[in-house]
Amino acid sequence: MPSYYSRKTAEILHKYGPGPRIHFHVGMFEPGVHPNTTVSQRVLRNRLRASQETVLDYAARLWGVPDNPPHQLFDIGCGIGGGSIYWAQEYGSSVTALTVTAKHVPVMADLVREAGVEDLVTPVLGDIHDLCEEAGYDAAVAIESSGYMDRERLFRVVAKSLRPGGWFGIQEHFLCRPEWTTFIDGYYKTRLGTLAEYISAARAAGFELEQDEDITDRVAEFWVQSMAWTTAELDRVQRTVDEPSPITVERLHESALTHGKLFRAWRDHAVETRLLLFRMEGN
Ligand SMILES: C[S@@+](CC[C@H](N)C(=O)[O-])C[C@H]1O[C@@H](n2cnc3c(N)ncnc32)[C@H](O)[C@@H]1O
Repeated sequence: MPSYYSRKTAEILHKYGPGPRIHFHVGMFEPGVHPNTTVSQRVLRNRLRASQETVLDYAARLWGVPDNPPHQLFDIGCGIGGGSIYWAQEYGSSVTALTVTAKHVPVMADLVREAGVEDLVTPVLGDIHDLCEEAGYDAAVAIESSGYMDRERLFRVVAKSLRPGGWFGIQEHFLCRPEWTTFIDGYYKTRLGTLAEYISAARAAGFELEQDEDITDRVAEFWVQSMAWTTAELDRVQRTVDEPSPITVERLHESALTHGKLFRAWRDHAVETRLLLFRMEGN
């Protein structure tokens, strides 16, 4: 899995950059809004980026962050730190940004410096499964990263790392129809779970589910917009030779086809994207 992400870093920078806040997760659109895709590739990219920040704004409000920003925040599976920089810049949180991908760390450190939050965001290389911190974080977040992890171990580690009453916010995709498992896990190298599996792993670690928001219908549009970006990229590389894509033509073709299937899976709720909030017992 770390090698999958090392290869992907250049692709992520190209599709979702420039920085400093670069995210690698789905975005959210207004209910019932389907923006016209016959626009420039730059407009499509800006739209994808804006939709990714919309999901963070939405999660932040849902999880009560504006009224009570966490002082110490643990960003688990932070990618190249777009979310970590977001929490630091928007809410002044001190963020420990954990990734298992070595190549992310120097890229993230540059983006953190570019954002001017090097006093607030600390990039850390490590595997969540091996941690046993008792750091007293106020909160932890895992934005589209828990799907790569062993949930029982994840919740156990996070429970230990939080102060009493601390919360754990998760954005993730959940399997509703098992026939999609092989296709989605194969494409993203994940092992997605069901909501029931998460809730029981969380309970076993001492968490209580406080919020469960289904954002699937607002996310489905992301696949349409992202597919339009990919098709535009294919057109671009076939027309020009001076600015090659870091993404291979084979991967772009595969991606365009896959996006059609992903859209159907989300439209049909075969997979659901949810924002969950778990809280530890205590004050
Ligand atoms: C889809 S990316 C999401 C990145 C980021 N949260 C964002 O929203 O942009 C998944 C991330 O999880 C990280 N990850 C996967 N397994 C991990 C593990 N066992 N320990 C720590 N990080 C892990 C990967 O390195 C990658 O950065």
